[in-house]
Amino acid sequence: MQVQVQLLTSAHDRANFRCGEVDLDRWLETQALQQQSKNTSRTFVLVDEANPEAVLGFYALTISQADGTAVPSKRSLPQVVPVIRLGRLAIREDLQGKGFRLGEILLLNAIERVVEVSNLGSGVALVVDAKHDKAASFYRKYGFRASPDSPLMLYLPISVCRELVMAP
Ligand SMILES: CC(C)(COP(=O)(O)OP(=O)(O)OC[C@H]1O[C@@H](n2cnc3c(N)ncnc32)[C@H](O)[C@@H]1OP(=O)(O)O)[C@@H](O)C(=O)NCCC(=O)NCCS
Repeated sequence: MQVQVQLLTSAHDRANFRCGEVDLDRWLETQALQQQSKNTSRTFVLVDEANPEAVLGFYALTISQADGTAVPSKRSLPQVVPVIRLGRLAIREDLQGKGFRLGEILLLNAIERVVEVSNLGSGVALVVDAKHDKAASFYRKYGFRASPDSPLMLYLPISVCRELVMAP
């Protein structure tokens, strides 16, 4: 399997993606392209080069804001800070936990984009609202920390994003 990450288009089969979380499947099918056309979020899909219409996984990014206290930093932050939000991340159910590390590939791809966005504009952290503690533990593996405001709101400071992107 030779995978690549592409911006979602109408050529991708959004209707047959199943990750085990019905609301994520439904969001991909019904909301992702709509939101993209309104420029309110961008969705990126993981595909196999041999069959690029089939979606193996996806994530969505949105420019957002957070309370400075929700994403603590060594530096003192303003009351409201720019962040980039990872709205959703999912891998097709039959490919999860099979050793392909597709979730990791997508997360690192998202982090690379977040560093670019922060370099071009702004963004003090990548923020994710985990659906449940199982999902949160996936993100914690990569250095995400729980926000003091909510255990399921996790953040990765942009300095850590840069380190992950630059790591060999
Ligand atoms: C969470 C998810 C994206 C992980 O994808 P995956 O392709 O199965 O994960 P990977 O193979 O890339 O795993 C990479 C590492 O994370 C670990 N991991 C995977 N899922 C995990 C979980 N739920 N909790 C803790 N660790 C997890 C793996 O064991 C592996 O660790 P290792 O380095 O010690 O071997 C996938 O299970 C999924 O799509 N779940 C349903 C949707 C969902 O809950 N998304 C989160 C929404 S907020």
